[in-house]
This record gives sequence, structure tokens and C-alpha cells, in this order.
Amino acid sequence: MDYFTIEGGVALKGSIKVNGAKNATLPMLAACLLTKEKVILRNVPNVADVYTMCSLLESLGATVKHDKKAKTLEIQASNINNYLAHYDIVSKMRASIWVLAPLLSQYKEAKVSLPGGCAIGARKVDLHICVLKDMSADISIDHGYILAKTQQLVAIDFDFPIVSVGATITAILAATLSQGITRLNNCATEPEIQDLCKMLNQMGAKISNIGSNYLVIEGVTELSGVDYIIMPDRIEAGSYIIACAITKGTIELTNATDLPSMHNIIYKLAKTGLNITHKDNIISVDASNSKLLATDLQTMVYPGFPTDLQPQFTSLMTLANGTSCITENIFDNRFMAVPELCRMGADIQINNNSVVVKGVDTLCGANVTSSDLRGSMSLVIAALAAQDETIVKRIYHIDRGYENLEQNLTSLGAKIIRRKS
Ligand code: UD1
Repeated sequence: MDYFTIEGGVALKGSIKVNGAKNATLPMLAACLLTKEKVILRNVPNVADVYTMCSLLESLGATVKHDKKAKTLEIQASNINNYLAHYDIVSKMRASIWVLAPLLSQYKEAKVSLPGGCAIGARKVDLHICVLKDMSADISIDHGYILAKTQQLVAIDFDFPIVSVGATITAILAATLSQGITRLNNCATEPEIQDLCKMLNQMGAKISNIGSNYLVIEGVTELSGVDYIIMPDRIEAGSYIIACAITKGTIELTNATDLPSMHNIIYKLAKTGLNITHKDNIISVDASNSKLLATDLQTMVYPGFPTDLQPQFTSLMTLANGTSCITENIFDNRFMAVPELCRMGADIQINNNSVVVKGVDTLCGANVTSSDLRGSMSLVIAALAAQDETIVKRIYHIDRGYENLEQNLTSLGAKIIRRKS
């Protein structure tokens, strides 16, 4: 199993390119099942979750051509001959659930493993199922699998009782080829969902009010292929900004073409004393002369501060001047990295869904273990600022969502090496 050794204390300096958004790519790959024509996706991040979704599509019968160097995927789902998403894939990556709605609407049946819980919480899929049942799917649960059949999905008016990224995506994917006009209220509005909707509309879908929490989708009978450039990854960009901040560095992020989606992140990070400017698709961060200020944080659905940057922000606050309170409002167990940070000298108390972080003068290197994707990144961030060497184990979690992390950090001056045990 790979691990990182990181010698902390180097201020990051230089420029890196932001990759395409993983969380936009995954539902777009599922959306490829909605057409028999070729879909070309560009700016595809080379991360393990994307490879897993590609394997799932291939297992269903799709043809997948992946040019990793060009960051391009060509998908053709004209010969789908299997409607099963096996437990082995779904348990590895929950986003696999997104093949359920396209399989059902295009092929009228699907068998998809229930994802079950995961490290950051229970993460139910009841709303995904509820939406599809309302659209006239016949759904039962058998031996851990969702068995779904339909004659034809029909349009619905649906009011989400809670805001869910995943269930909103399932509803969108199901509604595009359904009969009638679907109205979805209290939808998630994350930029990655907006990007998916834009792609679907270029394929011939009729989705209106993109970006609002009230989507209206007029079902169409078929979708065409598309050639689409995926938006940049705001979570990856935010992670590098935080890494720069904790090391008191100066970096530039290029290819940040979707700046509006970063406003909420940049606004909050600027409050910690960072100097951040953004112009012409470039985000410039200067932390070299700033005093890191303790700043409270509440994670919220978009346009609030994303839960996917909360663990990294928590790491940043361990070295801030003063005490901060960080509240996690989306997931019920997203402080798994905290005990590991405390082993590095952080002073953090967990109280239910909040943590109180008292800034300390220094962190010290230690052996720490990753337990989820963003938590792992928070450990790397802490290690970049810690005295002496930190060993971060189980970094396969990081490989799910960060492309070439150690190469990027090395190019910024960090002393990070990937090793095999
Ligand atoms: C997606 C993102 C993840 C991000 C999260 C919140 C991807 C691949 N994953 O995850 O990175 O952290 O959005 O921004 O894009 N819930 C239910 N029932 C459901 C569905 C969700 O109760 O049927 C609950 C979940 O348990 C959770 C909350 O709703 O507490 C939010 O989950 P959701 O927005 O659906 O997150 P994911 O789609 O799983």
C-alpha cells in the first residue's frame, strides 16, 4: 500500500494547473448511458474514481476510450448488454449509484448494489429511490441490491425534503428522457450539477432554471452525443489554496475558468488573512506576510462553504492565531482526521457536529492514517507545515480525487515522496 513521507516547513511557491472537476465528471459519465451516440469529455481528471466509473460503464457494455495524456474520454453506450452495478464497484465508489436512473430510463431495468454507509456517515440513498418510485419505477430491495424496472418513467413534481447533491442528480438523469414535464423543488445547486445540466442540454435535454433550486425538465425522447469540456475542480483548487496558506507560501492556480463557483470559498479563505486575487482564470494566493487568523466555519449546501473543504480548513485552523469553531452540517461523521491531527500536536475538541480548534504554535511530524478522501488531504496539508517528517498512510483515498498530488506539491517546492510498503 502506498504512503507519503512529507518533510514539512517549506513555503509553497509556484504555479499549477487546476484539473477538471471529479464531481462533475462522475455524473457526466453516468449520463453517457442516456445516448447511443458518442460522447467526448475533455479536461477529464486522471483520478481513481474516474477510472472506477469507466470500468463500471465498460462492465455494462459501453466502449470507453481514455486518452489520459490528452485528458479526453470517448464513451459510446450503443451496446449496453448488462444492467448490473455490482457491490464490488458500488462499495468502492458511491457515485456508482448514478447509473441507476439512466439504465432505468434507457433500458427499463437496473440492478444496482446499495452503497451502504461510508467513513463520513450513513449516506442514505432513500431519496434517490423515492424519486424513481414516484416516476413510476417498480423498485424492491433484494439481498443488498436495488432492483428496478419500469415501462416508462413519467414526469413528477418533487419537493426534496433535504438538499441532496446525489438525489438531485438522479432526478435530473431520470427526468431528461421521461414523459412530461418534471418540476424539482429544493434541488441542490452545486456548480458540478449546473455543469451536468449544461452538458445534457447540449445533448438535447430541456432543462430550465439551471443554477436555481427549482429545476424544470421537459422530457425528450432521445439525446444525442456531445463534445464537452468539464469545469475545473473547485475542491482541488481550494485544497491547494489552503496548502499554500498553512505553509505561508505564494502560489498561482491556472485553468480556474469557473471563478464564480469559487467565490464562497475564496471569501472565507480570505477571512483567514490570506491575500487572494483572481483574474483571467488565474487565482493568485499570497500568504507570505499574513498572520493566520482563527475563523469560524459552517459547512452549507452551495453557495455555502463546501463540506468537501471542511477537513482541510480544520487543518489550517490548527496553526491559526486564536480559537475557531467549525461546524459540519452536511455529514454526520466528518471529523475522522481530527484524532490524527491531535497526534501531530493540534488542539481540537470534538462536540457532536462541531470542533473547537485552539491554534498552536507548531505541529510535529507523526505517523498518521487516512480514512477518507478529503480527510487524507487534511493530513497532507498539516504535514506540509509540521516540523520533521510525517508519514501519511493509506493514500489510496487521496488518489480517488487528487491527480498527481505529489508531483504538483513537489513542483511547488514541497518535500513529499510516495513510497510503497
Ligand atoms: C456529493 C459529493 C460529495 C459531497 C456531497 C455534499 C460527489 C461524487 N459526491 O455526495 O463529494 O461531499 O455531495 O456536497 O459528487 N441523504 C439522504 N438521503 C439520500 C441522499 C442523501 O439522507 O437519498 C443525505 C446524506 O446522508 C447526507 C446529505 O443528504 O447527509 C447530503 O448528501 P448528498 O448531498 O446526497 O451527497 P452525495 O451526493 O453523497
